[in-house]
Amino acid sequence: MLVPSFASLVEKSPILPVLHMESVDDALKVTKAIYDGGISAVEIVLRSPVALDCIEAISSELPQVTVGVGTLTNKQQILDSVNLGAKFLVSPSFTTTLAKSMIDTGLPMLPGVVTPSEITQAIELGLTELKFFPAEQYGGINTIKALSSVFNNVKFCPTGGIGPHNMADYFGLSSIFAVGGSWMADKKLVAQKDWPQISNLTAQALQLINRLEQST
Ligand code: 3PG
Repeated sequence: MLVPSFASLVEKSPILPVLHMESVDDALKVTKAIYDGGISAVEIVLRSPVALDCIEAISSELPQVTVGVGTLTNKQQILDSVNLGAKFLVSPSFTTTLAKSMIDTGLPMLPGVVTPSEITQAIELGLTELKFFPAEQYGGINTIKALSSVFNNVKFCPTGGIGPHNMADYFGLSSIFAVGGSWMADKKLVAQKDWPQISNLTAQALQLINRLEQST
């Protein structure tokens, strides 16, 4: 089965907000704030009891947003989240079983890798758009550079420890098509219900990318 391009999904704004939400209402407010800041795709991670409810609510109440699911580690989670409206799939890890279950949905997908062996297994399944996670802990841009010199047909979306302080370095590599992260909606901002600041951080991240594009 042909896997739709993940890069196309985030082409206009190549930043993927990673949202760990503890309440459906907050998830709707955060997603709307991010959308107002200029990003229309968000990843809800399956790391809270309400994550699936958040996906369902965003999917039905904010149709202008493309909501996806992250932290997938098994087939049942994939089936449940797609059933509730997830439009793309992200996993932190790579096994061929998990990746095949993701491929079977026909949705854009981003399986997580860090090692040459995992990347080789992904390529064997026809997957060349991969999440590099956790990026900073596994050597960041230096590791991606080394991997890219071997796997020059693979494109990465790194996540883990990425934010305004190091985003520009990552976008300096041609093998990186997007970055992901939680910094635009960190726990403190959500607890304070500071939706305007979430919009501001989103808009600032996009401005940084525009400046980088103009300077190249
Ligand atoms: C992810 O699931 O991609 C990461 O948890 C995001 O990492 P961050 O919180 O360091 O941005």
